[in-house]
Amino acid sequence: MAGKLKSVYICRECGYESPKWLGKCAGCGAWNTMEEDVVAPVKNGITSSSAVHSVTAKALSEISLTDEERIVTGIAELDRVLGGGIVKGSVILLSGDPGIGKSTILLQICNALQKESNILYVSGEESAMQIKMRAERLGVKNDSVSVMTETDIQSVCEYISAQKPDIVMIDSIQTMHHSEISSSPGSIVQVRESTNLLLRTGKSLGIPIFIVGHVNKGGDIAGPKVMEHIVDTVLYFEGERNQSYRILRGMKNRFGSTNEIGVFEMTDIGLREVENPSAMLLSGRMTDVSGGCITCVIEGTRPILAEVQGLVTTSGFGNARRTATGFDYNRLNLLLAVLEKRLGLYFSNLDTYVNIVGGMRLDEPAADLAVAMSLVSGLRDIPLDENLIAFGEVGLSGELRSVPRAQARINEAARLGFTKCILPKSCLKQITSCPDSLELIGVRSLGQAISIIK
Ligand code: TYD
Ligand code: MG
Repeated sequence: MAGKLKSVYICRECGYESPKWLGKCAGCGAWNTMEEDVVAPVKNGITSSSAVHSVTAKALSEISLTDEERIVTGIAELDRVLGGGIVKGSVILLSGDPGIGKSTILLQICNALQKESNILYVSGEESAMQIKMRAERLGVKNDSVSVMTETDIQSVCEYISAQKPDIVMIDSIQTMHHSEISSSPGSIVQVRESTNLLLRTGKSLGIPIFIVGHVNKGGDIAGPKVMEHIVDTVLYFEGERNQSYRILRGMKNRFGSTNEIGVFEMTDIGLREVENPSAMLLSGRMTDVSGGCITCVIEGTRPILAEVQGLVTTSGFGNARRTATGFDYNRLNLLLAVLEKRLGLYFSNLDTYVNIVGGMRLDEPAADLAVAMSLVSGLRDIPLDENLIAFGEVGLSGELRSVPRAQARINEAARLGFTKCILPKSCLKQITSCPDSLELIGVRSLGQAISIIK
């Protein structure tokens, strides 16, 4: 018995479902984001046994392992984030702000892959001529790339099934539409169904598919959060528009680690891989100014040096301002509280700004010490030693806690010519070898570390 079709309303921002339309989403509080979706009802009652088909399960030990087949793109920064190349049949969502370089990197992948693969580039955003012009500028000379400007997802999938290209790129999912669904392109239902159709097509034929997805103002993938659940890999392209560095970050990966990053630089001939991100992030550093402190964080498998800048000024309005760019705002407040309570350094009537240079985001607690030291250096207006780096987690009692991979961090510091490293004393036992050029200063507390700033 086929029941009546039922409407549900889904929030475009967070995926919250409600049986009634709401002006304000009860899930995320956004206004005017609920969109109608029609669902076929599930049959009521107990299903008769004839309708249940038999299923089997296999013992884990009996499942044989074959290596997933991967296509290595040759763009090392991308291959690392993907976990060693593109897995056959995987669906990769590439997301990021407008103008960050998503279309550019797709064309560059086309170029890197040129020899063996047949690539289908489907664009709903640009005309074939615009794509050709960009490809010319990027030096893509590839006869095996075909460009299609089409927005009907069913036609695209039919073409894919008939032509069986080796790789498909969809730019972007928000421009695609499914003719059986009445809502406009970019709506949650359209995006979800289009993604599902692509996923089924890609999986059944073993064709990897890159899908470009736009982000909304909040930085989430626009429209459906649901899309993130459907695809195998979510890559996020980030960076400041007005700076040339771009960081490709894996947010989800069914075929590899998620905390890898790839670093690129946008040039006039497209994206260039940055093999030595530490050197790039430290270039242009001013050494005789207070408030700067270098730290070393582990991004995926790589240690990367980053510069923390702290600025402390007299507050003009009674209400002290705090801002953090590239560092967690609450963590900054916590560090300020520790400095105040444990070390008697008062910031309560001072404006405090923290910035991580180069558009980096430091989420690791190991960055705590450098942030605290840059704040103290800013407060006292005394520059830190330019050859000093610091890392370690700061606890609420003002103690310094051990962080993993200390050896990798000091190796990176030594490689870039630093001569002094302040680190938690408990990290010293992780160190098996230290270059002579680098002096290790193990400290137990934030107070001890600060005493080095005279
Ligand atoms: P694009 O790939 O179109 O961004 P998205 O697809 O994510 O919206 O990137 C466009 C920006 O990159 C644009 O502002 C110009 C810049 N750009 C360069 O600086 N150099 C280049 O070689 C290319 C192709 C783009
Ligand atoms: Mg684009």
